[in-house]
Amino acid sequence: MATARDLVPPPRVTHRRMVEADLADVAALENAAYMFPWSIGIFRDCLRVGYTCRVLEAPDGIGGYGIMSMGAGEAHILNVCVRADLRGQSVGRRLMGWLLDEARSAGQGWVFLEVRPSNRPAILLYESLGFAPVGLRRGYYQAVGGREDAIVYRLDLDVWEEQRARQGLAVRRDG
Ligand SMILES: CC(C)(COP(=O)(O)OP(=O)(O)OC[C@H]1O[C@@H](n2cnc3c(N)ncnc32)[C@H](O)[C@@H]1OP(=O)(O)O)[C@@H](O)C(=O)NCCC(=O)NCCS
Repeated sequence: MATARDLVPPPRVTHRRMVEADLADVAALENAAYMFPWSIGIFRDCLRVGYTCRVLEAPDGIGGYGIMSMGAGEAHILNVCVRADLRGQSVGRRLMGWLLDEARSAGQGWVFLEVRPSNRPAILLYESLGFAPVGLRRGYYQAVGGREDAIVYRLDLDVWEEQRARQGLAVRRDG
């Protein structure tokens, strides 16, 4: 049976390469999303060293971003963020899909990422895509009143490919 969510059209979001001119908007989203945000300089460094840096373009401006490093058969998703008003509408799932497709196209076999155990929405998103926990980094993150561990998640991109084919996940470039 169709739910109310099925009847609402998904947000019109495309993705493209992040450029220097996006950095102020990206940093503003980052500041709004995280208690311990990356500085604008970290994003600039990611661009400079040639990481895969993508922004989501919504009709009213930048709707999110994803940063990924790749090399030696492994990709590492370093940051994904969706603008607050676009969350809960499968935008994060599509953003992840685009990053995973790029990693696979570039010949990587595995994708790793870290997440705070307290970040339930992100954990549910990653697990729904097939990521599985493979380790714990103790005290990895800054946290209020101390440090927080990171769970390390890993995805086999062959599994991703199979899952995408099975579920017919929408990962078209124009979203
Ligand atoms: C995590 C984040 C990227 C998810 O983006 P999103 O666009 O809201 O996610 P989606 O709508 O695509 O949801 C995909 C799945 O994630 C899970 N999920 C997302 N938001 C959720 C929430 N608030 N509560 C529970 N599950 C949630 C669900 O499993 C969902 O699947 P479903 O739609 O079939 O229920 C977004 O919440 C965000 O930008 N958070 C701030 C930055 C952040 O924490 N980034 C991750 C750092 S590791």
